[in-house]
Amino acid sequence: MVSMHALAWKIYWVVSFVLQLVSVTKGEDIFLEWHLALDLTIQPVNVDQPVITINGLFPGPLINSTTNDNININVFNDMDEPLLLTWNGIQQRLNSWQDGVSGTNCPILPGSNWTYAFQMKDQIGSFFYFPSIKFQKAGGGFGPIRVNNRIVISVPFPKPEAEFDLLVGDWIEQSYKAARSDWSIAPAMILMNGKGSFIDPFAKSYESFTVSPGKIYRFRISNVGTGWSFNFRIQNHKMLLVETEGSYTSQIELDSLDVHVGQSYSVFVAADQDVADYYIVASPKLFEMTNETSQAAVGVLHYDTSTTLAQGPLPIGPDPSDIEFSVNQARSIRWEPSVGAARPNPQGSFNVSNVTLSQTFILEGSLAQIGGGPVYTVNNVSYIAPDTPLKLADQYINGSGVYQLDVFSVNSSLQSPVTTGTFVVTGQHKGWLELVFENDLISMDSWHLDGFGFFVVGFGEGKWMPESRFTYNLQDPVVRSTVQVYPKRWTAVYVFLDNPGMWNLRSQHLKHWYYGQELYIRVHNADPNPVKERQPPSNILLCGQFFKVLFFFFF
Ligand SMILES: *[C@@H]1O[C@H](CO)[C@@H](O)[C@H](O)[C@H]1NC(C)=O
Ligand SMILES: *[C@@H]1O[C@H](CO)[C@@H](O)[C@H](O)[C@H]1NC(C)=O
Ligand SMILES: *[C@@H]1O[C@H](CO)[C@@H](O)[C@H](O)[C@H]1NC(C)=O
Ligand SMILES: *[C@@H]1O[C@H](CO)[C@@H](O)[C@H](O)[C@H]1NC(C)=O
Ligand SMILES: *[C@@H]1O[C@H](CO)[C@@H](O)[C@H](O)[C@H]1NC(C)=O
Ligand SMILES: *[C@@H]1O[C@H](CO)[C@@H](O)[C@H](O)[C@H]1NC(C)=O
Ligand SMILES: *[C@@H]1O[C@H](CO)[C@@H](O)[C@H](O)[C@H]1NC(C)=O
Ligand SMILES: *[C@@H]1O[C@H](CO)[C@@H](O)[C@H](O)[C@H]1NC(C)=O
Repeated sequence: MVSMHALAWKIYWVVSFVLQLVSVTKGEDIFLEWHLALDLTIQPVNVDQPVITINGLFPGPLINSTTNDNININVFNDMDEPLLLTWNGIQQRLNSWQDGVSGTNCPILPGSNWTYAFQMKDQIGSFFYFPSIKFQKAGGGFGPIRVNNRIVISVPFPKPEAEFDLLVGDWIEQSYKAARSDWSIAPAMILMNGKGSFIDPFAKSYESFTVSPGKIYRFRISNVGTGWSFNFRIQNHKMLLVETEGSYTSQIELDSLDVHVGQSYSVFVAADQDVADYYIVASPKLFEMTNETSQAAVGVLHYDTSTTLAQGPLPIGPDPSDIEFSVNQARSIRWEPSVGAARPNPQGSFNVSNVTLSQTFILEGSLAQIGGGPVYTVNNVSYIAPDTPLKLADQYINGSGVYQLDVFSVNSSLQSPVTTGTFVVTGQHKGWLELVFENDLISMDSWHLDGFGFFVVGFGEGKWMPESRFTYNLQDPVVRSTVQVYPKRWTAVYVFLDNPGMWNLRSQHLKHWYYGQELYIRVHNADPNPVKERQPPSNILLCGQFFKVLFFFFF
């Protein structure tokens, strides 16, 4: 009897342990309902312009999740034109059906709704979402995403007193609809969480964070702007860099941090100064600004018992035109291989110190003229988004009539004529791809790949050459999903193509992207077993060619 009793307990114990494991890897289910609408009353810069709100908020609500949580967001489009939301840096494992870009999804039409369902699979970190089509990002619709560590994994820093999300980005004073059709419209200033500058007497509001003396805070900073890099700093305070877009960095102390379009970072800040209020500044960087002070975003770090306003001149950052400062800082941002992140084993157990490359793409971002108008290009091709999402075409009609596979030249040294097209390139499943981004422009650029984190192995001047590989850092390159490319320079990354799907590779600069600087990488797993790419979701939207062929599929 006794042994039976013990056995029963053992079984109970094992079963509950297994259930616990299952629940840990499955994550929690999170259900959200969002209504996107145009608001004419917010007027962040005191002019009439439509701002895209979510449930009345600008910026939109936080998605506060934990590794492996299942996110369900029922998105209602209460705007006057089609909508898609994309989840910058969320990898959508085996599931590009939820990526929310024109190549993967039909848009959600005005007056209708669609439910995104995806998992924060094996990820941690700071990210953001934004509307991906029709230049809508310039009107708002963005918001923060946190993927917290599971409690079973120890994080490489003490728990902060509080965490703050800072969505910072340049802002255009005109409506986003005017901006998308008028090449000359440009941003005027930077907003911090949708608010104006503390030192601007005409600003309706400014951002302020309240802290207690002696406590430590985590700031999750993202550049949600359309085209400006910025330098971020807090008067009299140091920042400890800990994370970038889902990987833990070696911890370095900084006076200021350059954040480029589409990037996210976490820094820790100790409230270790005299009780007072201090400026938080994000000023334009590597850009011909007309007035750094009036174009900067200025918020406030407020000590809870302080009665003095932030005062004195704004803290001075590095020379805004100093490229070397920025490049050196970029090179100093390294991965911390010894700590766990989404999984308990160290981040560095999967690394690039000894990999064999299976493909190299050398991609030059540039500006060209087509039909008398300016366009942005990749290797002289300006991408045209078809009405039919590439992913749908791939699934049902082998891409035919929608895109051309592997016609695009992935080597910028091979001269190609300037043209437009819908080109898709094959990425070898489970191969290592070397991506070299060249910037032919005289301004900053930044590149992003959906579906993956990539290892940032090198930054260099001029044209990339095979010998440039000798300068790579293969020991502890940081892993992220958006990387900056300096004017007339190159950046190189490695990516392991273990995630089948149709993946967008784009400039994060909204104007570059809108005018054609993107392409898609198709990663196909020919072996249907054992790990399959997900089938289309049951609520899939149809559009383009699929209105015509609908008949044949369903009758
Ligand atoms: C986010 O979720 C974590 C874990 O469930 C929780 O501890 C934290 O308080 C939440 N934060 C916010 C702002 O909701
Ligand atoms: C639209 O919202 C309703 C609930 O209001 C929900 O039942 C339905 O599944 C949603 N439609 C889609 C396509 O997600
Ligand atoms: C820049 O803007 C600030 C704040 O609006 C103003 O005080 C300053 O005079 C301006 N500087 C120049 C050179 O225009
Ligand atoms: C990279 O992985 C190899 C095993 O493949 C390991 O020996 C090495 O220590 C790792 N490097 C780092 C920096 O963790
Ligand atoms: C590096 O890779 C080569 C070939 O893939 C292999 O033979 C060698 O053992 C690897 N070295 C280490 C240190 O992992
Ligand atoms: C699908 O298209 C590719 C080229 O894009 C072609 O090589 C292949 O044969 C096609 N497959 C079928 C089944 O038509
Ligand atoms: C790119 O093309 C040039 C010129 O033909 C060639 O020398 C080089 O090897 C190619 N690079 C790659 C990575 O294929
Ligand atoms: C793009 O076209 C221009 C002008 O025809 C040419 O000078 C340049 O070399 C081309 N670049 C590429 C990457 O093909």
